[in-house]
Amino acid sequence: MTITDAFRASILYFTDDPACNPDAMHWHSDGLLLLSGEKIAAAGDYHLLKTQLPPELTVSHWPGKILCPGFIDTHVHYPQTDMIASPAPGLLPWLETYTFPTERRFQDSEHAHEVADFFLDELLRNGTTTAMVYCTVHPESVDALFIQSEQRNLRMVAGKVMMDRHCPDFLRDTAETGAHESEALIRKWHGRGRQLYAITPRFAPTSSERQLVLTGELASQYPDTFIQTHVAENKDECHWARSLFPKARSYLDIYDQCGLMRPRAMYAHCIWLDETDRRRMAETQSAIALCPTSNLFLGSGLFHFEPAIAAKIPLSIATDIGGGTSFSMLQTMNETYKIARMGGHYLPAASMFYLATLGAARAMQLENTIGSFTPGNEADFIVIDPQATPLLARRSQHLNSLEEQLFVLAMLGDDRCVEATYICGKKYIS
Ligand code: GUN
Ligand code: ZN
Repeated sequence: MTITDAFRASILYFTDDPACNPDAMHWHSDGLLLLSGEKIAAAGDYHLLKTQLPPELTVSHWPGKILCPGFIDTHVHYPQTDMIASPAPGLLPWLETYTFPTERRFQDSEHAHEVADFFLDELLRNGTTTAMVYCTVHPESVDALFIQSEQRNLRMVAGKVMMDRHCPDFLRDTAETGAHESEALIRKWHGRGRQLYAITPRFAPTSSERQLVLTGELASQYPDTFIQTHVAENKDECHWARSLFPKARSYLDIYDQCGLMRPRAMYAHCIWLDETDRRRMAETQSAIALCPTSNLFLGSGLFHFEPAIAAKIPLSIATDIGGGTSFSMLQTMNETYKIARMGGHYLPAASMFYLATLGAARAMQLENTIGSFTPGNEADFIVIDPQATPLLARRSQHLNSLEEQLFVLAMLGDDRCVEATYICGKKYIS
């Protein structure tokens, strides 16, 4: 294997969940990351790996910085970029007042491109290299996101929202057109370069049973595509969903009955699940996208960590822009930590960085592609400056452990800490 690039700095990555395996966290304070083209070749201690350096190769040296795999945001709405931080008393009025009118504009492909361009640059500025992205009901909005992603060579997962009821006419498809348009987009985009498709029924209240059934059929016809939707976010939403599908055992069961629970299905929020729901999540290897800034901002509720961990459900954390209030996965860790505390759970920093990298990749069944520095994985990584702000620099003078260093970064860090973002081994410059 030819080594083409080398980076020297501290290195952080995971090969397993640190909560289950004490050897899962890999930290090399003077580390070396070696690439072979677009892939990871090796990561380890500088003094052990330097023998593998080709003599003529220049090493990029980042003293005092941390290299870690690019962050993965498992639930985000790119069309909501322009309405982030819109005030409303809860999810349903927020959707009516801001979300639907904002999403209307994505019938215009030029507008969709302009927002997608900004959105992807903002993700990269925050160190997020992969995301599971909701577009709008308009197929043009999906093309725009994937074209912009392809131009940057990003590994993105995205899909067309499907809604055939309880939404304005201008955002409505039908069960049939939603399925046909989604299938055409799967054929066009799923597996083209680094792009991957997510079948995207918005949430049960805006889909007829027939739409969910056709969506489930599509998901079984294309088993390596992703599925993304919302569930059990807000109490009013839960009551509404149950009243619309009275035969279902629970809100989650609506999706289960339609064949929408399987590996690569990502369920956002999952705040108001019961034990049977949690068991089904684990049995089907469906994953949770916990969206802390959104849940706090919209007053949706506090996610319960302990029962989700006990049930062994694949877990990830996400921004949920524009319900969420920050593009930063560091800020998302900060709010995740506080939500865990409110439920009596203690979340170490190692677990937070795991959730934002390998944990998310595993929840998406992409751990052999992204999320760690395992050799052969794609070389999407970031350079973190742990002293990027005056306060971080000052606090960093008083650190007693690696855990404390990472914890401080998760609590006080944000986009200012992301010094550089590399995509398949190449530094991204917007
Ligand atoms: N439920 C249905 N649609 C949405 C959305 O756009 N954002 C959030 N947070 N929840 C939803
Ligand atoms: Zn959402």
